[in-house]
Amino acid sequence: MKVTLQKGGLEAFPSEAAVAFHFEGDENLQRDTAAMDRATRGLISGVIQSGDFRGELYQASLIYTKGIIPPKRILLMGLGKRGDFNLDKWRGAGSKAALFLRDTGVREFSLPPYLAGERKISIEDFSQGLVEGICLGLYQFSELKTEGREKIKEVRQVHLVTPDEKRISRIQEAVEAAEMISKAVYLTRDLVSRPANRKTPSILAQVATGVARNNGLRVKVLDVDEMKKLGMGALLAVASGSCEPPKFITLEYKPRRSAMDTVVVIGKAITFDSGGLSLKPSENMDKMKHDMAGGAAAIGIIQATSQLRLPLHLIALIPATENLPGGSAYRPGDVLTSLNGKTIEVISTDAEGRLILADALAYSQRFKPKAIIDVATLTGACIIALGENVTGMMGNDDAVKARVKRAAERTGEKIWELPLWEEYEEQIKSDIADLKNVGGRPAGTIIAGAFLKKFVGEYPWVHLDIAGPVWTEKDKPYIPKGATGVGVRLVVQLLRDWKASS
Ligand code: BES
Ligand code: ZN
Ligand code: ZN
Repeated sequence: MKVTLQKGGLEAFPSEAAVAFHFEGDENLQRDTAAMDRATRGLISGVIQSGDFRGELYQASLIYTKGIIPPKRILLMGLGKRGDFNLDKWRGAGSKAALFLRDTGVREFSLPPYLAGERKISIEDFSQGLVEGICLGLYQFSELKTEGREKIKEVRQVHLVTPDEKRISRIQEAVEAAEMISKAVYLTRDLVSRPANRKTPSILAQVATGVARNNGLRVKVLDVDEMKKLGMGALLAVASGSCEPPKFITLEYKPRRSAMDTVVVIGKAITFDSGGLSLKPSENMDKMKHDMAGGAAAIGIIQATSQLRLPLHLIALIPATENLPGGSAYRPGDVLTSLNGKTIEVISTDAEGRLILADALAYSQRFKPKAIIDVATLTGACIIALGENVTGMMGNDDAVKARVKRAAERTGEKIWELPLWEEYEEQIKSDIADLKNVGGRPAGTIIAGAFLKKFVGEYPWVHLDIAGPVWTEKDKPYIPKGATGVGVRLVVQLLRDWKASS
């Protein structure tokens, strides 16, 4: 889909459809809506007066203009009550308008990039939010359908039309950022949606290598022998039940400027989590293809960071493996030696995410980062604690946690902090090794966090458990059913704000 920016009045720009936004119960029409109403001699106010369209949130009404103005249709899109309005509803309104028109069969439409007179939201945020809402809402995962492809409806072009000449370059920049960020979310969603047989660790490494080539990133893929040499005993143990070789992927973005902060993003990439010998029940096991969503997010994050040319040194670490049972699989009771030398008693082979992250966290210290952010579908308990929409956050550094909270408020992703008090570490003490990978049922998400903390050393670190929001069974305003791409917009926002809040 192409997004173009046009100067002029929406009412005069020829398109298949023009979108007119309206607040519920508003006496006055929005500036661009009012211009269309005048040009059509009251077509819009007529529909509102009839009571058919009230402007309730995401209410949609289609009007045919019969040649009175160049746009063939006007889509009225409700914004709800003005007092309840925010940036996230604006993203949703853009998406809902685009989806309504796509369903109608419209392939090209126009709309205003921002709401004139609404000063709570900046023009840049309006423009970025609208394009993100549209792009993210129109996402479809269709690469595996061979039949009925001709029936797949697609929007080809969106025109942002504004009479506001002075602001064009600001809007243009925000639109380009939105497109880069949306592309990164698409990449992540595509990878998460794909079945495990089409995204083995080797395939994931190839994808990462392609992303590196296209964006001027450095890439390094460690194979089993190199991991053995380094001593990544935890990751290798998890991989031992599978015939697919594990890969430890490093992507590096380093712009040619000196004295930049280094940030490491680590993404859990279990390309399929069967539980291993601690086998999961077969019901819903297919969902465990999404257990690499943290790794997929890390790839999306570094792609967007490089395309946005952000002034920092970013490293993405993606430990990738399957977790399968088999004759050579690791067993409950085994004791592993991780990269930092700590010994780990395996209680459950299904608590494998924290094992591969342990090696990755230990590895990350060689970069002496200003912050380490790990993203992982780590615990089912996080869904029990916070529900399906919320990312659990833990960490050892208040400043980095504050950055995550600020970024989440901007992107509309919901995060909630859980405590990491020392007492929790009691639960993962082992009788025979330094620690064990499971500590009973209470506070399962926090216990996983407490385990990870043992591997971060003194570096500022935050852990994001995305087990809940990684996937949605229901369409949301701008997140269609399926893989959500959670974490990408969040961390990219945090990195965009890095300097501003340091
Ligand atoms: N990948 C799962 C966590 C998960 C569950 C993510 C549901 C998304 C949806 C993880 O590897 C796992 O199996 N965790 C266990 C830990 C337990 C053995 C301590 C869990 O949550 O049951
Ligand atoms: Zn597991
Ligand atoms: Zn897992």
